[in-house]
Amino acid sequence: MPVTQFDLPEKYRYQNGFDSYLESEASPGALPIGQNSPQKPPLGLYAEKLSGTAFTAPRHENKQTWLYRILPSCSHPPFTELSADASPESMTGGKLHFIPNQLRWDPFDHASSEATDFVSGLHLIAGAGDPTLKQGIGIYIYAAGKSMDERSAFYSADGDLLIVPQEGALDIRTEFGWMLVRPLEICVIPRGVRYQVHLAEGKPARGYALELYQGHFILPELGPIGSNGLANARDFQAPVACFTTDCGTTAFDGPNVYNVVAKFNNTLFATAQPHTPFDVVAWHGNYYPYKYDLGRFNTIGSISYDHPDPSIFTVLSAPSDHVGTAVADFVIFPPRWLVGEDTFRPPWYHRNTMSEFMGLICGGYDAKKGGQGGFVPGGASLHNVMSGHGPDADSYEGARNAELKPAKVGGGSCAFMFESCLMVGVTEWGLKKCCKVQEAYSEHSWGGVKVHWTGEGGSGSHLL
Ligand SMILES: [Fe+2]
Repeated sequence: MPVTQFDLPEKYRYQNGFDSYLESEASPGALPIGQNSPQKPPLGLYAEKLSGTAFTAPRHENKQTWLYRILPSCSHPPFTELSADASPESMTGGKLHFIPNQLRWDPFDHASSEATDFVSGLHLIAGAGDPTLKQGIGIYIYAAGKSMDERSAFYSADGDLLIVPQEGALDIRTEFGWMLVRPLEICVIPRGVRYQVHLAEGKPARGYALELYQGHFILPELGPIGSNGLANARDFQAPVACFTTDCGTTAFDGPNVYNVVAKFNNTLFATAQPHTPFDVVAWHGNYYPYKYDLGRFNTIGSISYDHPDPSIFTVLSAPSDHVGTAVADFVIFPPRWLVGEDTFRPPWYHRNTMSEFMGLICGGYDAKKGGQGGFVPGGASLHNVMSGHGPDADSYEGARNAELKPAKVGGGSCAFMFESCLMVGVTEWGLKKCCKVQEAYSEHSWGGVKVHWTGEGGSGSHLL
């Protein structure tokens, strides 16, 4: 019997649809009828507009939401920059190093203590561009040993954050309502939205994240595939409004202090406001957090010959200004059938003008059998712009000699890729010993690649 949203607590009654115009009210009558900003909004609420694009963005790109809340977001004491102790290099990760070598990491450490929550356990591992110019991306690893404090909230002015849990479910309270995001699910928290991350069931959490400094994710074009396939719009879920009334009689006389931390140009700032930021009673708009179950992906592939480009597995895409070229594609490699005949079935060897950061949520990956620490859940790899890569030697030999019957690959597995048109740098944090970069990754993977040359002068010896 499948679990439906009605089997879950009431706070998880999601609304369905990608880039839809949605509305939700937690108290009847909280949404104004026929206008956005009445002289006196219903129930004594404040109307507040949250813009995700310029006011003047074309209608098909325009993103905004009207929030109806007990107190407006502006009512807080000034933000102050957190000290270096409280805002360690982890958020920025230190200087970026641009390296042409193929890189692979063993699984990243879990949070070393219960003192680490989602925000303090968020480490920039790689990135490109600059949030002040609204250009580029940041790639993160997170590890949290405890939930964020009940009276805290976090937001990023730098971009939309795509979160990919690898271990431990996240119970995320946002201004818009709650989302439960488990491994093999993802969520996107738009720029500016305040949220609080709890560890569901109290278990430690670890995963990956990508911050998009420019634009927003869209569903990829389907072209000749037609009107359905890959990630279907109806499977994206947005929260329903849910609020608390932790406020005093004016903005600055509330009973409880909420620490609000802002990420602003990759620097953390904090303020303590005496009222909850989770006081949105109703909202309507198309700028909202959402989640998606990767198990619902409709995987499409070759039914004749040749391995298609991995773009066939794109879940979400963040386009650059150049049509067909993404600042970030989020691509998954779910369980699927391979039936190609007279074909080398795994990914081919290639060099790419795009950079490819990969992670593994669970299981194994069909193009990497092992070598040193292997490509294992909780680890990662980076094949930067024009850095050659492909199956390791054993995988190549295996696939070259395999009997080509229909075969299901990737059972119980899901790898993913953040693919970007940008050359990404690796942070000092990412190159630290604690992050366990596999120093002999290249040699272990491809040092044993054999020569199969059968023309004149061929030898069959190893290349390295
Ligand atoms: Fe690749």
